[in-house]
Amino acid sequence: MKNNFFITGDLHVGKSTLINRILDDFSFSDIAGFRTSRYYRDKKLEGFYIEDIRSEYENPKDKFIGRCINKDNWISIPSTFDDYGVEILKRSLEMNPRLIIMDELGFFENEADIFQKMVLRVLDSEIPVLGVLKQKQTTFLDIIRNRKDVNLITISPDNRDEMCSVLSKKIEKELCRQESEHKPNIDAVAFEKTTREVFAPVYPVIAKQIKDVTQMTNGLCLDIGAGTGHLGIELAKITNLQVTLLDQSEDMLLIAEQNIRYNGLEDRVNVTSGDVHHLLIDDGSVDLVISRGSLFFWEDKKRAFKEIYRVLVPEGTAYIGGGFGTEELKRRIDIEMQKRDKCWRRNMTQKVEKTKINYQELLEDLGISDYQIINNTANMWVVIKKDVNEQVVTA
Ligand SMILES: C[S@@+](CC[C@H](N)C(=O)[O-])C[C@H]1O[C@@H](n2cnc3c(N)ncnc32)[C@H](O)[C@@H]1O
Repeated sequence: MKNNFFITGDLHVGKSTLINRILDDFSFSDIAGFRTSRYYRDKKLEGFYIEDIRSEYENPKDKFIGRCINKDNWISIPSTFDDYGVEILKRSLEMNPRLIIMDELGFFENEADIFQKMVLRVLDSEIPVLGVLKQKQTTFLDIIRNRKDVNLITISPDNRDEMCSVLSKKIEKELCRQESEHKPNIDAVAFEKTTREVFAPVYPVIAKQIKDVTQMTNGLCLDIGAGTGHLGIELAKITNLQVTLLDQSEDMLLIAEQNIRYNGLEDRVNVTSGDVHHLLIDDGSVDLVISRGSLFFWEDKKRAFKEIYRVLVPEGTAYIGGGFGTEELKRRIDIEMQKRDKCWRRNMTQKVEKTKINYQELLEDLGISDYQIINNTANMWVVIKKDVNEQVVTA
């Protein structure tokens, strides 16, 4: 279930200021929603108006939601909520931003039924809401307060700063959770762009590590979950291996083919579409299986490793895992990726944690005894050597 966040607290305690501080971390295109503001003439408060946070309205008086009769008396104008307020919220949903702002919900909208329904529709949507809730008891405000998906944060002058960072972290966590849940399959074009701009230096380093550890320079190599092909291509450049790049994504393989041509390796590197769980490859036919960054996506790792072991020739080697090559490369990439995507670090850690398994147990379950696990701060690789006499148990 998604979360919505509302700040509440005494008058003038700084609720809207806190929202603005949190929004400093967001780019303009990430947010939508409304804000209500005071309208003064000759330093005298005349009323409150509603505006779209993405486009200031030139004539606030047209958008009054409450008018001041005298110091303590107000009349509300529900029609502004029902017309303009609803229009802003509809537009906000259509924009599909990361966060919708509702600053603030109070008592002027008591009679604005259409607006109230629209607010509830937005709260029900997939997009998290960050809003301010007046500390008043009204039927509408109580409905919001009592929703299970609403996190109510009460601020006071004493806890304002602390709450700002607590709330920022909560919102960031929610947005990252949402984004990782709703992320479609990896977009091949975007993947290749990031690979070229950020990850490119890791491939020659890892290719050299594979060559040094496995000592394999001839024969057939299968790169599983090869993506756009950089690792297999780099390994082909420093060995005489015949490399097949296998991936379940046709889009990735289309780009991989371009990369093969660009490197003039058409005679030694080719692509094939496939799924690690059901490799359409003969038993005992591959000398070296490599795979970087793909096993985090494999649904049944035991089956995948069994398939990998099956296709290896006797004495063949598999080098499966993920990593950045060196600690320094990892540090540089981490900084660059975090600049590009605030959820990068969190999502990476979550993905690794979520898909973490005991490889030792898995391999032993499969009857594989000749293996080495390389696990350091920059890499995690499982290196398997297939023994001529070894039998793999049926899963
Ligand atoms: C993070 S990318 C890594 C690509 C490449 N190895 C690299 O290091 O640049 C993961 C790749 O694994 C592929 N993949 C995920 N699950 C797979 C599966 N079951 N069988 C084959 N490929 C898979 C994805 O399509 C994607 O291209």
